[in-house]
Amino acid sequence: MRILGIETSCDETGVALYDTEQGLLGHVLHSQVPMHAEYGGVVPELASRDHVRKVLPLTRKLLADTGATLDSIDGVAYTAGPGLVGALLVGAAVGRSLAFALGVPAVAINHMEGHLLAPMLESDPPEFPFVALLVSGGHTQLVQVEGVGRYEMLGQSLDDAAGEAFDKTAKLIGLGYPGGPALARAAERGDVSRFRFPRPMTDRPGLDFSFSGLKTFALNTIHQHPNAGADVAAAFQLAVVETLAIKCRRALQQTGLTRLVVAGGVSANVHLRERLDRLAEEQGGRVYYPRPELCTDNGAMIAYAGALRLQAGQHEPLSFTARPRWPM
Ligand code: KG4
Ligand code: ZN
Repeated sequence: MRILGIETSCDETGVALYDTEQGLLGHVLHSQVPMHAEYGGVVPELASRDHVRKVLPLTRKLLADTGATLDSIDGVAYTAGPGLVGALLVGAAVGRSLAFALGVPAVAINHMEGHLLAPMLESDPPEFPFVALLVSGGHTQLVQVEGVGRYEMLGQSLDDAAGEAFDKTAKLIGLGYPGGPALARAAERGDVSRFRFPRPMTDRPGLDFSFSGLKTFALNTIHQHPNAGADVAAAFQLAVVETLAIKCRRALQQTGLTRLVVAGGVSANVHLRERLDRLAEEQGGRVYYPRPELCTDNGAMIAYAGALRLQAGQHEPLSFTARPRWPM
């Protein structure tokens, strides 16, 4: 079975082909980051319009790159949520129409499920069950995963997502957009011991997160020390990484599981990876990540999730909808 995956939930247009026998045949991506950078963040209307411009040319490029033909496609998967409603509608309309035109089934995919399954595209994928830490720009979630579609939410952020906290903190210390990678780079130059940031919600039981206080802490620190951007970045990053590690350790202990899957944009963070690898070693377990290019938004994870869902017999009627808020 060969599935075309379409991702347009935010500021990347991603298209990919996944074959259940041959694996990932190819994936292409267009990032809108330079377009939104001018405004310091994603402008939803510009995002939708750019997806309209890019999704079909990217699909043609994917077919040319892989040498695949349209009639070799057995199904189409598109991201239906969560995300920006206008952006989602583009991928959903194109995906559903393409499936109709080709006479193949279409399946709506939850973007966070796409992230969660992305490590399964690697050569040594995790076996079920596992604990998943999903850390993106919109979500921070700890999930117990028993199998495809069998997800139990263990904890989540009560305010800002980890990626959002990176982005907002980067902005207030004068770094570019997107803030996550910029802040991580600045942190390399910083003195990590100069300031100590709190580890929010680690002093009480439970697996929920709260990152908005760290942003305020960073704001106050930078007001008192206007030239300490790199030191603030280093202290902030350490606080986020330590907080995530403490909650991951708790989740593994609570569930008795040893495999940890980490996905979503923030899983590209090198310090987070080092810290979680160390944690897993201490716990006698292992951490699984997607390759860096599949940590952030992409069509490959949607094509893969679609293949599993279609193989399980799931598909959509002719109507389609975008679901800006869609719990997994
Ligand atoms: O998964 P993703 O591409 O999009 C969403 O679904 O939100 O995640 C994007 C988020 C952004 O907040 C970005 O700043 C963050 O991931 N990010 C990072 C790094 N690379 C991307 N955060 C920290 N360190 C990084 N290296
Ligand atoms: Zn994402």
